[in-house]
Amino acid sequence: METTVYQETSMPRIGDKAPSFKAVTTQGSINFPEDYSGSWVILFSHPADFTPVCTSEFITFASMEEKFAKVNTKLVGLSVDGLYSHIAWLRTIKEKIEYKGLKNVEVNFPLIEDISMNVAKKYGMIQPEESNTQAVRAVFFIDPKGIIRAIIYYPQSLGRNFDELYRVIIALQTADKFKVATPADWEPGDEVIVPTAGSCGVAKERMQSKDTDMNCYDWFFCTRKLDKAKIDSALVKKE
Ligand code: BEZ
Repeated sequence: METTVYQETSMPRIGDKAPSFKAVTTQGSINFPEDYSGSWVILFSHPADFTPVCTSEFITFASMEEKFAKVNTKLVGLSVDGLYSHIAWLRTIKEKIEYKGLKNVEVNFPLIEDISMNVAKKYGMIQPEESNTQAVRAVFFIDPKGIIRAIIYYPQSLGRNFDELYRVIIALQTADKFKVATPADWEPGDEVIVPTAGSCGVAKERMQSKDTDMNCYDWFFCTRKLDKAKIDSALVKKE
């Protein structure tokens, strides 16, 4: 009979404090998450350097680094490869690879070396049924106070959608700033969800409201307009 052997790994959850660690990266040593206090961070893992899906991901993500910086978001990558492999791979990306019209792409965000798998195990990035020796594609969204606010895991074969990662950051920041939730497939400029009525009185008020900016599908499901310009001016740093 086949048995599954589970390694002892932790799986941080939404709302947890991001597990702390010190690491060597392609941009020097970091003390995580303390060094990132005051910024949003996307901490993400990839299976291995010099592999095709990962290369397409790094070129795409690095080309969006400034866009993320404008919404106070820093990127930190990780794989269980060593520092010199990371350096060689990032040099190859810059010097040799053109992907979807993106070329000469410099990866300026830190890429953690994690040969010991110390960080990968703390963050549940090693998932033995996928691989014992490489990380899956994990993404942790960490807020300026060091709290994990969203988590996405992809298998090794599936390249991530980086527009979606940007959408998650904007949606989390919009929820915090405007005290709203965001519906399915929300993009800035779409209507947002106002907190559900918490009493019979508010439910009745909502259904009788003449507020033309609010739209109630029923008492528990009301949306309101939130202009993209208002979101941009609250979240996006000016030049
Ligand atoms: C890749 O990045 O191409 C890859 C890495 C590990 C397993 C499968 C694909």
